[in-house]
Amino acid sequence: MCYLPGHLGLLAASSADVVPTSIFNPAAPSSSAIVSLAALVVAIAALIFCVVEGILIYSMWRFRQTGPAAGEPPQVYGSQPIEVAWTAAPGMIVLFLVLVTTRTLWEVNSRAASDEIREATLVAHKHDPGSPDAADPPPADGTLRVNVVGRQWWWEYRYESYDGRQLGFITANELHIPASEADKPRATRLLLDSADVCHSYWVPRLGGKMDVIPGHPNVLWLESAEPGLYLGQCAEYCGTQHANMLLRVSVDPPAEFERWLEGQLAPAVDDPGAAAGRQAFLSQSCVNCHRIRGTAAVGSYAPDLTHLASRQTLASGMVVNNRQTLDQWIDDPQQIKPGCLMPAFKLSPRDRRLIVDYLSTLR
Ligand code: CUA
Repeated sequence: MCYLPGHLGLLAASSADVVPTSIFNPAAPSSSAIVSLAALVVAIAALIFCVVEGILIYSMWRFRQTGPAAGEPPQVYGSQPIEVAWTAAPGMIVLFLVLVTTRTLWEVNSRAASDEIREATLVAHKHDPGSPDAADPPPADGTLRVNVVGRQWWWEYRYESYDGRQLGFITANELHIPASEADKPRATRLLLDSADVCHSYWVPRLGGKMDVIPGHPNVLWLESAEPGLYLGQCAEYCGTQHANMLLRVSVDPPAEFERWLEGQLAPAVDDPGAAAGRQAFLSQSCVNCHRIRGTAAVGSYAPDLTHLASRQTLASGMVVNNRQTLDQWIDDPQQIKPGCLMPAFKLSPRDRRLIVDYLSTLR
């Protein structure tokens, strides 16, 4: 089952061998728990359907009128055993479903719940200067912590810490997380907030939806032992380009993830061959909204471009990132993503070429 527009399938075809968004192909403990529950509920509903329809069809056949009309059939007024049965049986089925649903909810959220208690303890300790935990580094438990900011219509990722190491870099639209291993579980804790309106974070193969609400951070844990590319979609209507607020989560083997981290932690490439392009970029109003670490571009309103060329897509997963699409985007973003908040700046073809040259060096 595919919920996403056709072009996504194209983008995914290179690295994903299966339908990348199917809820019936879970790749994480929480999405597996949700699929099992859904299958159980569908099975019970199907059984009830068969029983009810079966009795209905049998009765229609068994008590059909065979001879000439003989007035009204005998009237029956109530039967206590039958009424007790058809009240108690549905009641027990509902109770059973409530119990298994509660268990699944608990499984999906237990980590978030225990995490909340830990955070609350940490905050309490921080207010107590004598506490040994007051300035504790994050625990080296394999956890990746990322703050996610939903924006119209893209995702900002602020990498906070990983396995006890502080990170502190910002990227956009393509989330990389480490794959979990049997001997060392590696989970990712996303703290979701919004800069504007309500969004919803949903990567079907990795878990359920989580609302992204301005001023009300929610926590979502991701964990998968299967490296690969997982696609998702903003699942709460948030304006013109809601349908193109796409999610890309790359679950990397731990060593590969470390390499990616090193690349992102490094300062922006300063290629002398692209000096003219760098100058062109820095002299335009690009710098008011975009950030390139280590340069005068310190805007925080639009995606961080420090390692733009290391990303596979542009415009929150809409188009492949290459020189041609980058040039189109800079020329007029509205042609690719109508309604997006970046206007066409009417740059000369020469400036555009120089800026594309420069941005293409930012690996
Ligand atoms: Cu963001 Cu819909």
